[in-house]
Amino acid sequence: MEIAKTNWPWVESYLRTKAILLVPIGSTEQHGPNGLIGTDHLVAESLARAVGEDLSLLVAPTLAFGMSNHHLAFPGSASLSPETMIRVVREVVTSFSRNGFRRFFFINGHGGNVSSLQAAFADILADRPDLRLQLASWWLLPEVQEKEKEYFGKENGFHATCGEVSVTWHLYPGAETPIAPGVAPDPETEWPVGPERYRFLYPDGRMGSNPALATGEKGKVLFEIARKAIGDRVRKFLQLDGATMTGG
Ligand code: NI
Repeated sequence: MEIAKTNWPWVESYLRTKAILLVPIGSTEQHGPNGLIGTDHLVAESLARAVGEDLSLLVAPTLAFGMSNHHLAFPGSASLSPETMIRVVREVVTSFSRNGFRRFFFINGHGGNVSSLQAAFADILADRPDLRLQLASWWLLPEVQEKEKEYFGKENGFHATCGEVSVTWHLYPGAETPIAPGVAPDPETEWPVGPERYRFLYPDGRMGSNPALATGEKGKVLFEIARKAIGDRVRKFLQLDGATMTGG
């Protein structure tokens, strides 16, 4: 259930038995010549909504901007600084905590967000030890990585990956855009890099990927694996929460 499509009495009633909120977070950044700019937030959003349906849990509106500074030399990309991102996460969590939410499970679609999210969690918990926070970055889940390896091997790459492009084509079949086969460069030099340096090292935006291997059918399988894997982790997160939190 999406919190945006409920009303306050409904949320108040939910909070009588549950204190968890699923929070999708991603980015708005280039994903190579044929990947969707919204890939990272669209995938996180769809996964959060699916897991929310599976477990009858509320889902927050998607945080669609992330730490994407290195992509800013490509049109259509926008970024929050790490400092701003930490503040946004902190203020969203503490606002919802005033309503009674105590457990926040972030479903993340973007690698550049991970360090800022971890810093934000540390910052929040220093002041609010009554809260619990968890992060699942869908493409890092071992269950997903195993299947991506089987499908794409090393040609999955690190940005605009075959896996994430496949999942967006499953979710948005009209977005399928062919690309000539070929593995994008991956010079394995310094990281992070600034926007112009990124475009110099990775001229079409991809990092080491060959999204010509992407298909919506593979995306459907990867999506369902991630949905189940995240659901398992949300259940575990709640199980270790003591008697009052049983069931969510
Ligand atoms: Ni991505």
